[in-house]
Amino acid sequence: MILGLSKSEQEFVESTVKAIDDKMSWVADKNRDKIPYTTIDGTYDNRSMDTEDVNDPMGLSCWTNGFWPGMMWQLFNQTKDRKYSGYAKDAEVKLAKTFDLYLGLHHDVGFMFLSSAVIDYKLTCNEKSRIRALHAANLLAGRFNLNGRFIRAWNDSPDKDTRGLAIIDCMMNIALLYWASNETKDPRYKQIAMAHADTVLKNFIRDDDSVKHIVEFNCETGEYIKSYGGQGYIHGSSWTRGQAWAVYGFTVSYEQTHEKRYLDAAKRVANYFINNIPDSGIIPIDFRQPEELSLEDSSAAMIAASGFIEIMKNVPVCEKAFYLNAALKLLKTIVSSRTDWSKNQDNIILNSSASYNELTHQYAIIYADYFFIEAIFKLDGSDAKIWGN
Ligand code: GLY
Repeated sequence: MILGLSKSEQEFVESTVKAIDDKMSWVADKNRDKIPYTTIDGTYDNRSMDTEDVNDPMGLSCWTNGFWPGMMWQLFNQTKDRKYSGYAKDAEVKLAKTFDLYLGLHHDVGFMFLSSAVIDYKLTCNEKSRIRALHAANLLAGRFNLNGRFIRAWNDSPDKDTRGLAIIDCMMNIALLYWASNETKDPRYKQIAMAHADTVLKNFIRDDDSVKHIVEFNCETGEYIKSYGGQGYIHGSSWTRGQAWAVYGFTVSYEQTHEKRYLDAAKRVANYFINNIPDSGIIPIDFRQPEELSLEDSSAAMIAASGFIEIMKNVPVCEKAFYLNAALKLLKTIVSSRTDWSKNQDNIILNSSASYNELTHQYAIIYADYFFIEAIFKLDGSDAKIWGN
């Protein structure tokens, strides 16, 4: 258990860990042959279809496909039950096939391989995992635009030129580059990660400490062109999951470099996020969405909670309670009102939303469960260190 929790907070963590372990034991067995993203009638779907169509959302290249093995590694680390490492390794072998597909891979190789191959290597010294992780890191490094000093987001589609696009989410992916430099002792990966982080610091954080989702640069000269609303409400709005990625990602950059500017950035965005948490503790999809549309995104809440705990580890004692209390508020709200512990649903967390301007909102999304489990296990002191220290 981490320091600083009151007796009742410790009891909350203990009972939630037990509830997670009880539910995930049967969920893992039931879905062992899949790589899920969401549920259909309560049962996890499967995004590991072996397809040549790299854009097929049900295919292996789906950017969220690291979260299932990531959950299995968190559970393995916490319980030491080898069934979880076995399920995680099975998923990783499937994911490795995406290197052959290649075209479906983009900036999100960080999400895909940090929570599968990197953590497998860290926990079991699997040499094959190390090679997979280095392949992924080289793919990510290869997306660096030298003049713009950013990592390119996405791949081109017939109707979209993405060569100049960078996105806030990628602050999480660059953890793979820090890992690769630590592993190989070659500073190039870390240099790229820091160059990207500095570009985001300069161009994404607004004066009010909220962050933009997408920024376009001239792909030849690197000049700033404009920003886009992306998965948030509209241009100029404040997509909550994007704010959460910035909080967590800048904290990881600080942990890997000890450059204070990154922790300062993480704190600025975190303080903005915390100041905007509604009294209910329920996180909207966008902090600037119309009030009458109370659309929620529990995944943003869980990523932010885990990010706040990460900040807490890195700030002086006098600041720790602020970030810990914010994380606890989000986690307690979710546990009391947005979880399903029954056998009717494979997911635990309710009411996540991928994007404001989609037709469907408030459903199960795997990364909400992943970051919920990670955050609770961090408080318990039993988490696997997938992104940071
Ligand atoms: N692509 C990351 C996200 O949807 O949050």
